[in-house]
Amino acid sequence: MKIIFDCDPGLDDGIALLTAFSYKGFDIKAVTTAFGCSTLENTTRNALRLMDFLGRKDVKVAMGAFQSMLGKTDIAPYVHGEDGFKNINLPETDIKPYTKNAAETIYETAMESEEKITIVATGPLTNIGTALKKYPELKDKIEKVSIMGGAVGIGNKSPVAEANISNDPEAARILFESGIPVIMSGLNMTFNALVYDDEIEEIAALGNKEAKLGGDFLRAHREFYRKQNFAGDPPHDICAVAQLIKPEIFETVHCHVDVETKGEFTRGETVADLKNKFGKEKNAFVAVGVDRKKFIEFIKERLSAYKEG
Ligand code: BDR
Ligand code: CA
Repeated sequence: MKIIFDCDPGLDDGIALLTAFSYKGFDIKAVTTAFGCSTLENTTRNALRLMDFLGRKDVKVAMGAFQSMLGKTDIAPYVHGEDGFKNINLPETDIKPYTKNAAETIYETAMESEEKITIVATGPLTNIGTALKKYPELKDKIEKVSIMGGAVGIGNKSPVAEANISNDPEAARILFESGIPVIMSGLNMTFNALVYDDEIEEIAALGNKEAKLGGDFLRAHREFYRKQNFAGDPPHDICAVAQLIKPEIFETVHCHVDVETKGEFTRGETVADLKNKFGKEKNAFVAVGVDRKKFIEFIKERLSAYKEG
């Protein structure tokens, strides 16, 4: 499967990238970055440091949006620390970002590929929205987009809006209205995909440097959720990767999703029509359940794979 990984690393993006790069069935062509967990400068630096750590200097890392399509920006140092990789000790790198920006890179990579591209998106959808708006023919080259984003009936930026969608509702709307199938792993599911403290330590102790780093990401992410009285850590972004490798971990409903861009109280809400009340064309597979044990097995399996080289 040819992949572009669009992200805002970010602690949970960090471990999601580790799980994705461990999978031989993925041919990851580019990593594209956006603001979100931290500033664009920080998220790009983090993606570059991670590629160096993984020995993947061959992968294009393209800088994307520093703000939303309407020019707004918001970051989350209270979750991901000042640099986006809170408390994580990753060496600096001399790898430079790719010469083209994220939207151009998504377009170029998709057009160059004979087979259709699959996108994993774990940040605000600005790069994808911008690319689809600028290059209308791009949609025919994209097989599907697996996003961590949105929620059914809950939120973390507002009572009903999740951060990645809330950071750029217009961009999210472009994607959901594009006709490209979207797999949506939202907070209603990811808040149940918890990694407990003893499991974090088991992952960290799997015996290779990638798993050790994965444990560091989970521990650092857990700090915020411990304060929120969660029983474990929800590493949201891993779900968008797992949906493509082990979809049986999740229960999904094929339905129509609208993105609210105008609501006085509901801007950024993903309105999932689970019961088909509007009768509109189905554009998304919305996750409504997760087999938590299988999710933990998935993380362990992926991070153990690095042992095989
Ligand atoms: C999402 O927002 C980001 O902070 C996380 O990395 C995740 O993608 C959770 O709402
Ligand atoms: Ca993210």
